[in-house]
Amino acid sequence: MSNTLIDRRRFVQFLVASPLLGALGSLASPGQLRAAEGLRGQSIESPDSAINVFDLEAVAAESLPPAHFGYIQTGVDGDLTLRANEEAFGHYYLRPRRLVDVSRIDTSVSLFGRTWHSPIALCPCGSQGAFDEDGEIASARAARSKDHLQILSTLSSKPIEDVIEARGEPIWFQLYPTGRWDITKRMLRRAEAAGCPVVVLTVDLPSGVNNRDSLKRAILRDARECSQCHTPGKRAPMFEGTDFEYTSFSQATLTWDFVKRLRDETSMKVLIKGIVTAEDAERCIEYGANGIVVSNHGGRADETGRAAIDSLAEVAPVVNRRVPVLMDSGIRRGNDIIKALALGADAVCIGRPYLWGLSAFGQAGVERALQILTDELKVGMEFAGTPSIKDINRSMVGTA
Ligand code: FNR
Repeated sequence: MSNTLIDRRRFVQFLVASPLLGALGSLASPGQLRAAEGLRGQSIESPDSAINVFDLEAVAAESLPPAHFGYIQTGVDGDLTLRANEEAFGHYYLRPRRLVDVSRIDTSVSLFGRTWHSPIALCPCGSQGAFDEDGEIASARAARSKDHLQILSTLSSKPIEDVIEARGEPIWFQLYPTGRWDITKRMLRRAEAAGCPVVVLTVDLPSGVNNRDSLKRAILRDARECSQCHTPGKRAPMFEGTDFEYTSFSQATLTWDFVKRLRDETSMKVLIKGIVTAEDAERCIEYGANGIVVSNHGGRADETGRAAIDSLAEVAPVVNRRVPVLMDSGIRRGNDIIKALALGADAVCIGRPYLWGLSAFGQAGVERALQILTDELKVGMEFAGTPSIKDINRSMVGTA
């Protein structure tokens, strides 16, 4: 564990023991302090001690500067969609089957000709250098050691080529098209040259601007000079060699024709991320998309108040296995994954759980997050009576 983390922990312990804090009344223990931050886990000393992903969240809260932790946690407006994403898994119950041989659990899935040992992928999450010095490289090393799919953000803190080297094989590239075709083409060529088989087009942030109240409040609590990560005009490595600065990021002019244009331009498979309705899923297929990611950006794009798992329940039957459907937003437990697969997802992606691990313990923390969720998934599959992923179907869930 880093000295900074130990120092922060000692500081919290000192605060808690201090009569000064007692005088503050209700915030009397580390648990209550974390509860006040909306955390559910316990602080731990090493990744192996994490019982669930929320234990990693608790350490991330202690280790990161408030603004950086706030950047991970934030939703938009009143965080309604953010909360709905997690809570809505509780509206679905599992319908386990008994007397099935579950002595061998096979969690593998195949996507575009590559078989993965697990249906859990790492979401594209930008600016990981703000959570760990090695950022996306640490995530890539963890994805490699645990053999998971990694999707790399346009706003990666590390160059795509370095991440691929750390991963040991090409990752999938997530594209924010920026509204400038020359920049988009350049990024596509670079991702293709690096060997990426898939480009994931994110379509749920039209202007790149939204109302992240929780982040704004966290920034107000953080007086540090943070020139390393947020220098105005700082460029992500993906924009190297261009005049583009992602502070001016906008894709407000984007329409469905762009999907076709992208398909015509690139040799990579094209997935569309941010789809939440059956109508748009149908359009994705009509315009030639090779796959769909049902996602509301972890509740940090628009404030619809609707959970992504409910969107999946609407979208998957319409897609009807014509193209692969991935789902993200709110997955925190192995049983959440079973519910998503039962409702029609071919694979799922996680965002915050691995960023908590990364912030808490670097590569080892990401590995722990992946291990916890995979172990929970396996136990859940045993109880559900589904020895392989293909055994998980719509009959496994009901609505409460
Ligand atoms: C994101 N997400 C995101 N999505 C994307 O397409 N490109 C990006 O650069 C980012 N960046 C990003 C940063 C951070 C800090 C977070 C938390 C999320 C959204 C991400 O891919 C995914 O949709 C959500 O994180 C999934 O929800 P959960 O698992 O975090 O609840």
